Amino acid sequence: MRDKAMDTNSNGAMISLYDVVKTYHTGAGDLTVLKDITLQVYPGELVGVVGPSGSGKSTLLNMITGIDRPTDGEVRVGGQAIHSLSENQLARWRGRYVGVIFQFFQLLPTLTILENVILPMDFCKMYRGRQRKERAIHLLQLVDIADQADKLPSELSGGQQQRAAIARALANDPPLVVADEPTGNLDTVTAAEVFALFEELVIQGKTLMVVTHDQSLSERTERILHLLDGRLDRDVNNGNGKYLAKDVREESHEYDLAQSLA
Ligand SMILES: Nc1ncnc2c1ncn2[C@@H]1O[C@H](COP(=O)(O)OP(=O)(O)O)[C@@H](O)[C@H]1O
Ligand SMILES: [Mg+2]
Repeated sequence: MRDKAMDTNSNGAMISLYDVVKTYHTGAGDLTVLKDITLQVYPGELVGVVGPSGSGKSTLLNMITGIDRPTDGEVRVGGQAIHSLSENQLARWRGRYVGVIFQFFQLLPTLTILENVILPMDFCKMYRGRQRKERAIHLLQLVDIADQADKLPSELSGGQQQRAAIARALANDPPLVVADEPTGNLDTVTAAEVFALFEELVIQGKTLMVVTHDQSLSERTERILHLLDGRLDRDVNNGNGKYLAKDVREESHEYDLAQSLA
């Protein structure tokens, strides 16, 4: 594969969906949960995804991460036509190019926090042996839980577990980070802190797509995709643009992800 940092689709987008349809075949008949979705997300964008429960938000993200496949249409991410990759290729591609963050963290319960963060580097053979551990510790420092490195996930609070999951998502320095209701299980203060980490990532140049029910958070994105019954109902520019990035950059010097990950 090519150098990921340079990769965009031929139209300059990080994510391109063309007429994506997803139909589930269920006992009760066919259920079409994504209907002709066409959209582009550009490098460095912070995009919120909102919509009622069942409107297709998770399914949409799963198309982009390759966790699930479209029934019809095309999905291109970072220049890669991911709908045409085999399962094996997809797993490796995802490991390197996309950091995925879930509502319930999905940390492996029998591994320590540190081991959870090292795992994606092992899987994708990124970085060399000892560097992996150093990098994992460094990432845990960035999300402020280095002191929890040797604990098991169950010993951490929800907010700490989500920080660990963010560190894990960053393990292979992916250009794209995708999060499905990442603050849905956190109190509002912790949720705001986690969201601030996302804003830092965008400043660093990563592309972020975040499903959230929390309006106070979605308002902090630059752009909101509204899903309704599997359709892209509205695609709204929030007017935050690069102002958001600038404000955060000026205010926050506590953890400078941009520098630390360079
Ligand atoms: N594997 C599946 N098989 C059948 N139906 C599914 C499957 N996954 C999701 N669905 C259905 O697809 C619709 C959209 O689901 P989802 O994308 O999870 O919505 P959201 O994340 O917006 O709540 C829902 O009606 C859901 O029940
Ligand atoms: Mg969902």
